Amino acid sequence: MNSGDIRKKFLDFFEKRVHSVVPSASLVPEGDPSVLFTTAGMQQFKPYYLGKKDAMVDFGTLNTVSIQKCVRTSDIDEVGDESHLTFFEMLGNFSFGGYFKEEAIKYGYEFITQEMKLSVDYVSVFGGEGDLPADTESERIWKSIEPNIKIKRAGRADNFWGPTGDEGPCGPTTEIYVRGLEIWNIVFNEHYQSKDKTLTKLPTPGVDTGMGLERLVMVLQKKENIFETDLFSPLDVNNLPSIMSETVRRIMLDHGRAITFLVSDGVKPSNVDRGYILRRLMRRMMAHFHKSARGPFKASDVTDLDFVDIENLLERVVDNYRHFYPELDKEKVLKIFREENSKFKTAINRGLRELKKLNTLDAKAAFKLFESYGLTFEIIKDFGGEKAVSLSRDDFDAEFKKHQEISRAGAEQKFKGGLAGHSETEIKYHTTTHLLHQALHDIFGSHVVQKGSNITPERLRFDFSHPQKMTDEEKRKVEEIVNQKIRESLPVQSVVLPRDEAEKTGAHHFFGEKYGDKVSIYFIGRDLASAYSKEFCGGPHVKNTSELGVFKIIKEEAVAAGVRRIKATLSGVQ
Ligand code: SER
Repeated sequence: MNSGDIRKKFLDFFEKRVHSVVPSASLVPEGDPSVLFTTAGMQQFKPYYLGKKDAMVDFGTLNTVSIQKCVRTSDIDEVGDESHLTFFEMLGNFSFGGYFKEEAIKYGYEFITQEMKLSVDYVSVFGGEGDLPADTESERIWKSIEPNIKIKRAGRADNFWGPTGDEGPCGPTTEIYVRGLEIWNIVFNEHYQSKDKTLTKLPTPGVDTGMGLERLVMVLQKKENIFETDLFSPLDVNNLPSIMSETVRRIMLDHGRAITFLVSDGVKPSNVDRGYILRRLMRRMMAHFHKSARGPFKASDVTDLDFVDIENLLERVVDNYRHFYPELDKEKVLKIFREENSKFKTAINRGLRELKKLNTLDAKAAFKLFESYGLTFEIIKDFGGEKAVSLSRDDFDAEFKKHQEISRAGAEQKFKGGLAGHSETEIKYHTTTHLLHQALHDIFGSHVVQKGSNITPERLRFDFSHPQKMTDEEKRKVEEIVNQKIRESLPVQSVVLPRDEAEKTGAHHFFGEKYGDKVSIYFIGRDLASAYSKEFCGGPHVKNTSELGVFKIIKEEAVAAGVRRIKATLSGVQ
């Protein structure tokens, strides 16, 4: 049976049993900010379990069936073994108050044994844990179908599913095993888990089932691993270089599918969120491909990296899947891949030069290489040699996560009085404000306290405590200091420290302001200790003061007793 037949049989089976066939949702979940990608078939149906939408109105039935494209990213580094994938298809039937355990289990059993003609090894059910009781009803139903069936009980880790993201429907599961493999996961969505992890009973319990197509096809086609099935074999004709290892071939096949589907659903490579995952997949694929086909990168060959074989593979993914997923877009996939490919070449050239200069390489330094040059973790490991031996994926990911949280917090937090947009000019004014703040301290001493700040694309405005009008001489000196720091081309960097340590650095901050346990400090200078300016701040900032142009004070006035206001511009920045 080929994979196309299996898809069809699955949809037909449930359609005959009063399920509406619903097309796969996009890999980019709509209206669910709690997850990056669609990871399960039930995701598009979340509102129906919660009674927020009415399946009867939208589908004409209380039951649906779908084949959902999914991306799961937790195991990217495992891809290359016999079973891990980032992209896969999930067959699922769902009910939102239509049927429950009895029918769900019977349908599963009937499809596996009669339609697929496979025999069930054993099944598992939820054995209870904490306040949650064992699912004796499912046990009874299984025995009523096959009196001698082997039933294994397990706890929450194995037989309780969900929610996707931080909250949502979830519940006990029963799983069907065939040839020792878990083939089908049947979830009884009885609960709602909220953000604080408490469970409440859903008013109407629902059914959510998921069966990985790749695994089912592997069992039916009697293959040793999923990459030998007809879901992959047509992608590898004509051919990936024969010297390529099996591991790398699998990485090509998996990432090739994921990239094609993600790009067709509108994801573009970038350094954040979904775009970051896509970039990682693309660059990991290119790096492995190159290394496997041509040996490790050398400075001499990074300029002529050739990825025609990868382009051919992406085209074959489109050809092979387009009949079922008409949204696949060959032109778009190739265009975005080529763009990323050329960025990758530049990144490798510049980043490797930078990497060579470093004496040590901790997670923070590695993350900087990623942020500034787009060198991925894998590439840094590959090229870091001795320096990268102790660098771990966990530490790198922790650094990444910290950064994303902070930049998000920074974007949300208004920069005292409102850095509303983040145009490049505004970012330049933001960094200049830090220089100005410190220059005023240099001239007037520590009674200078920031009272407010506001930035527009045309100018910066900075309010600070000071008892009298500034003289022309004082204004000239402040300008001179700021311009001197701009000319020194100082790097602008950030660190995250526990709040008490951050306070000890002497960085400017607002007294009485509530800061979190960890705070981000932006400093202007080669290192934190010798930095010219240090402030508690969520960013964003330019990377180097040399980007700033010429600083000029255009107005100095009083705004309240003891509070002065400076307006200043940068020339040559707009
Ligand atoms: N939501 C469950 C899973 O992803 C069943 O579809 O396994």
